[in-house]
Amino acid sequence: MSEPISVLFICLGNICRSPLAEAVFRELVAAEGLEDRFLVDSAGTSGYHDGEPPDRRTADVAGRRGIRVTGTSRRVTPDDIDRFDYLVAMDARNRSAMERLVGADDGDGRVLMLREFDPESDGDLDVPDPYFGGPRGFEDVHDIVERSARGLLQEIRRRHGL
Ligand code: 4NP
Repeated sequence: MSEPISVLFICLGNICRSPLAEAVFRELVAAEGLEDRFLVDSAGTSGYHDGEPPDRRTADVAGRRGIRVTGTSRRVTPDDIDRFDYLVAMDARNRSAMERLVGADDGDGRVLMLREFDPESDGDLDVPDPYFGGPRGFEDVHDIVERSARGLLQEIRRRHGL
């Protein structure tokens, strides 16, 4: 069996959007019987919440929809940049941070934005940051992440002939 395809989801704090994307994507991978083919993780660009569990509001919304959001917040490292096949940013700010770290050698299209794969994005490629907003924001983020993660998995399967 070849090396797993590795996917790292990235947001600012690694407590709301990227741990959710990680959990949703992992669930989809499992539903398609591909868990042995993927390595999935998440990280933040900031380190503001290093060592913390996912935000309770994110976990509650996901939990009501049958998805467990787990993990411990950590900052993205240079080793991640070397190691992961795909670096999937939640918004344009995260993407710029990844592009700076990857440098000029992203000929393979490793840096993606999650919402590139949202059929309802209407051209807005940011998963909005829900942290300082109300509960509705967390529901909206969950919907966006669910739609987009499906499209991302399809695209990765296509690229790898899976
Ligand atoms: P996340 O949300 O990037 O989706 O994890 C945030 C979490 C914390 C902060 C901002 C966004 N913060 O400023 O502390």
